[in-house]
Amino acid sequence: MRLSARSGWPSEPSPWAEAVARAKAHAKAHARARAEDGNDLVDLTLTNPTAVGLVHDAALYRALGTEAAARYHPRARGSAEARAAVAGYYARRGIAVDPERVLLYASTSEAYAQLLAIVADPGDAVLVPRPGYPLLDMLGDVVGVRRVPYPLAFDGAWYLDRTGLDAALSAEPRARAIVVVAPSNPTGHVPTADEQAALRARAVAHDLPLLIDEVFADYPLRGDVSTRCFAAHHDVPCVVLSGLSKVAALPQLKLSWAVLHGPSAEVDELRARAELAADAFLSVSTPVQLALPRLLEAAEELQPRIHARLRANIARIATLVRDQPVDLLPADAGWTALLRLPSVDGLDDLGWALRLLDAGVLVQPGFLFDLGAPPRVAMSLLTPPEVLDEGMTRLLRGVAAAIDR
Ligand SMILES: Cc1ncc(COP(=O)(O)O)c(C=O)c1O
Repeated sequence: MRLSARSGWPSEPSPWAEAVARAKAHAKAHARARAEDGNDLVDLTLTNPTAVGLVHDAALYRALGTEAAARYHPRARGSAEARAAVAGYYARRGIAVDPERVLLYASTSEAYAQLLAIVADPGDAVLVPRPGYPLLDMLGDVVGVRRVPYPLAFDGAWYLDRTGLDAALSAEPRARAIVVVAPSNPTGHVPTADEQAALRARAVAHDLPLLIDEVFADYPLRGDVSTRCFAAHHDVPCVVLSGLSKVAALPQLKLSWAVLHGPSAEVDELRARAELAADAFLSVSTPVQLALPRLLEAAEELQPRIHARLRANIARIATLVRDQPVDLLPADAGWTALLRLPSVDGLDDLGWALRLLDAGVLVQPGFLFDLGAPPRVAMSLLTPPEVLDEGMTRLLRGVAAAIDR
């Protein structure tokens, strides 16, 4: 059997994945004894809301059991009612969306894959932010599309490095789209109005669509951040991706959407092709489409609890690292905090994450997001407060111990 070159991913777990598996197995094997001496592994990486107590009232899930789900009316773009519910979600945020310009998918990842296949041929490239969301690499491989990184840089705050973006664009003749993750995972950066204009100007100049992943747009971490970036402009085709996984903290229900903005002729062509591709999959289940209006209402009810957790956690981390050799990097929005760790002992981000694992706390080393030097680690802001406190205590103890060696 001969398999594709592009699916020849490494089959061996990375040293980091092995170390995490070992630490988890060890913690499990010694669960009882370790719980007694308070030394089990504290996981600060959980971003699955259903694993950290951020769940809806049980009655909501019954909305999925409606009898209307007995009948199947396949619709490539998703049912008109479900698409209208997506438009309603945006209307509540002051953004006009035509339900005819909405397509439903099973996940944002699936939307990426299908849409990348429409904007790019195998061997073509898309511009992606670095540091950034690691799954984009895998999704690009699946559809045979290369990723060309453009830099987000840090000088006390994250910003779009326009020189780097221009260099990436002019070096890549086969670029077919610019992907913008806004708010960014893991940096939490939201492009300023100037940066948005710069991205649109490049898209126009190079005749490229923008693919905007705004799955975290409902989660600003500061009052003065406006996370809705690109919908208001019509100078460039712009595909905005989001979905229930983050908006309603319901990753298990598998429903996401793409909203097409921009010049009619180009959007119509994009939509026609996207619809044909989606028709080959018909991947969104009937029960979740029928329940979507109710699920999006429930999202509005749950989101204040998520906001409260995110903001309490970020404030708590800021307090705990004060006067410590650890910096909390500023973030505009999202579910992730980045910590800058001291440069000691030749430790890079992987070295630090391994050291912290030994100290009984799991964080993500920056290399997973292409963060590079200096050493930085990521942690989830969805972490339950008592777990966060214990994890941060161990982290700061682990840092102090490394400095003292
Ligand atoms: C930036 C970003 N985009 C997309 C996704 C995936 O969303 P979905 O569950 O809808 O595939 C994630 C998941 O963590 C993410 O961080």
